[in-house]
Amino acid sequence: MIHKNIKRLISVAVATGMLAFGAVAGEVEVLHWWTSGGEAKSVAELKRLLEADGHTWKDFAVAGGGGESAMTVLKSRVVSGNPPTAAQIKGPSIQEWGDEGVLANLDEVAKAKGWDDVLPAVVSDVMKYNGNYVAVPVNVHRVNWMWVNPEVFKKAGAKIPTTWDEFSEAAEKIQKAGFIPVAHGGQAWQDATTFESIVLGVGGADFYKKAFVDLDSKSLNSPTMVKAFDVLREVKKYTDKDAPGRDWNLATAMVIKGEAAMQFMGDWAKGEFTAAGKMAGKDFGCYPAPGTKGTFTFNIDSFVMFDVGGGDAAKAQQAMASTIMEPEFQEIFNLNKGSIPARLNMPRDKFDVCAHDSMDEFVGSAGTGGLVPSMAHGMSVFSAVQGAIYDVVTSFYNSDMSSTDAAKQLLSAVQSSL
Ligand code: GAL
Repeated sequence: MIHKNIKRLISVAVATGMLAFGAVAGEVEVLHWWTSGGEAKSVAELKRLLEADGHTWKDFAVAGGGGESAMTVLKSRVVSGNPPTAAQIKGPSIQEWGDEGVLANLDEVAKAKGWDDVLPAVVSDVMKYNGNYVAVPVNVHRVNWMWVNPEVFKKAGAKIPTTWDEFSEAAEKIQKAGFIPVAHGGQAWQDATTFESIVLGVGGADFYKKAFVDLDSKSLNSPTMVKAFDVLREVKKYTDKDAPGRDWNLATAMVIKGEAAMQFMGDWAKGEFTAAGKMAGKDFGCYPAPGTKGTFTFNIDSFVMFDVGGGDAAKAQQAMASTIMEPEFQEIFNLNKGSIPARLNMPRDKFDVCAHDSMDEFVGSAGTGGLVPSMAHGMSVFSAVQGAIYDVVTSFYNSDMSSTDAAKQLLSAVQSSL
């Protein structure tokens, strides 16, 4: 009798497709740093979908925007031989983890679900180690955004800036009208996020790539880089005295509440506006950071899967990878997160104007050479180089170092990190 029931259950499962990659229930332990309002709502969707398939979600959240703390915790877990099922790891770091020989191989599910056909090469290349899928992408974030409270601009009689010179004019008016021009959180990764948009705006995409991808010495220490540091100093002038140490989502809240006029931040900031019930194009505006129209600094979030042995744990892991790539997840997750789906040819109707702009620019900029990897978000260089750049940018930001010295230090710090 029991035997008969099990047989019947199995045939029902097969008929309803439950046994495809989602069949065996297991636990997935997932390391991430998505703890802000919009981020938490996004990751909750992944948990919901996996639990609906019968899996157990073990949350391993390590707070801290940009993920520096999460990566430190992850290293100690892996070193002690106890990796989580999956961890939010991005860009060239995936190769570093691959070199450690601790990752799972996702080729079976990738092949069955045709990942090579539904992902743009700029995304799928990053997900592979030695040609094998080891990671699965959840989204594409655009970093070079400027988030705007239109009411504040209106009250101050200021124009939305499209160049860094216009930025100073607008910021001056906003400050005189009694608002904080720029909402900023003084943390190394946020300083670097603003700085990379400035470098892109001041130098253009080719210069950005020479400096932050090729690490070309003539670009790292150059008059253009000096100018970029000058602009960073100018931006700092228009932040408030409480900026040091502030979390990025609290800075976004200042724009939401109309205390500040703008924030330079990737589109995870949009997740905060959305979670606060604000509407793109009406309550807030999204514009490319000054001078960066037609370019796109990409930041692709992905989950790297660790080798968890075989059995149910591995099966649940494959199911998680499969779920992440499903259109249902890619849509709901990105609606909450502020990013756009990593998967191609997704319906656009539920997405707002900022996401449409991002989708258009992602494709458009790829054709014109304006699509560049984010240095600040671990897309363009290995972590040691990124850390060296962070250090120089932040010590410039927090001291009276001259821009000329900063450019010199940038070059020497990068060289000694290689
Ligand atoms: C980025 C990450 C985003 C967002 C942000 C702030 O590095 O890619 O998904 O969460 O940090 O935490």
